[in-house]
Amino acid sequence: MSGISTYSLPATAAPKLEAMVDQIIARPGTMIDLKAMEQVPEQLDVNAVIAALPEVITEDDFVKMLRLAMLTESGTDSYAAVFQQGAGKYNANWLTRFNQKVWVPDEYTHTLPYYMMLRTIGFTEEELDRQIRELQARVYEHCCGISPVELTTFGTVQEYLTDNWHGLLATLLKPAAPQASYFANLVKRRETLHTVWYRGMTAIQVEENPELIELVAKTLSTFQMPGTQLVPDCGPLALGWMQRLNVDFNHVAKELVRNFSESAGNVKRSGMLLVEMAVAREYPIGPFPARFVRGAMNRLGGAGYGLLGEAVLEKVGLPMPAKWVGKPDSGIRFHTGIYEGIRTKMRTFIVNKIDIRSVTGDTAA
Ligand SMILES: [Fe+2]
Ligand SMILES: [Fe+2]
Repeated sequence: MSGISTYSLPATAAPKLEAMVDQIIARPGTMIDLKAMEQVPEQLDVNAVIAALPEVITEDDFVKMLRLAMLTESGTDSYAAVFQQGAGKYNANWLTRFNQKVWVPDEYTHTLPYYMMLRTIGFTEEELDRQIRELQARVYEHCCGISPVELTTFGTVQEYLTDNWHGLLATLLKPAAPQASYFANLVKRRETLHTVWYRGMTAIQVEENPELIELVAKTLSTFQMPGTQLVPDCGPLALGWMQRLNVDFNHVAKELVRNFSESAGNVKRSGMLLVEMAVAREYPIGPFPARFVRGAMNRLGGAGYGLLGEAVLEKVGLPMPAKWVGKPDSGIRFHTGIYEGIRTKMRTFIVNKIDIRSVTGDTAA
């Protein structure tokens, strides 16, 4: 399984994906009520936060953090156009429906909370509208491929990291502006749902055609947050703010691995994903170049992938998902005695050799 770049799914896949989108459309959860929010603008007043900022964050940083949230969210149409392009090209009606009926209307509600917060600290409507127009006029260059599995993988990571960003802002706002924090948390909760949905869509596609794991790995390796490009005076600073605010990067790594493993669907394919990502990022696995490990694994019929999949979970401290245990092709076999003893020792050996940056990139290392 190397060198594939074509996207294909068997005929059994579309009904499953359409059914999943039907369910989402039927139960999209509670969207943010902008009308109710607009009636209580004083609740989004963040002036008191400025006086109470932690030492490591200046007023200028704080304003940029809010602007990054507002502007990234106001780029919805640019991202949606890429999803539409991919969905159209590959006849993924389910993705078109999800995009148009749920995702776009939902994302449209994420800008206003930050817009209103910025209004309370001296930004005029003219100024904010101008910044939003400028962002929307920028050409958005998508980091990754546009086949549906690449788009849903991109969506999983982008939504997860955005979820984190709104969570970080909610924490920063909470002591001095608890109501504003509440609204940031409402946005965060929507991003959590989006992450789960995209992850589920990825998992169905990979389940239907396991070779797509290579496209998942490729996307994870070239992934870039849109804000880095579209909001050049704020996006590249985000990692530094996260470091200064002591974001728990081990937790971020753990959650990323959890999302990737769920997308892969079983422990063997999680191992394959790890190897493919290490190849794409050119990180060694233990003393060996990742390409060499992939070649050896494939010649052995892929038997070692399950062990690698277990090892990557152990590396970040995640338990084996209960639903994986005992499934056909799960990569887990039940053995006792000497065999299991050797296997455990080997897994521990691999755990110590895995460079977690293969999975997370440098951000969470
Ligand atoms: Fe959003
Ligand atoms: Fe979202």
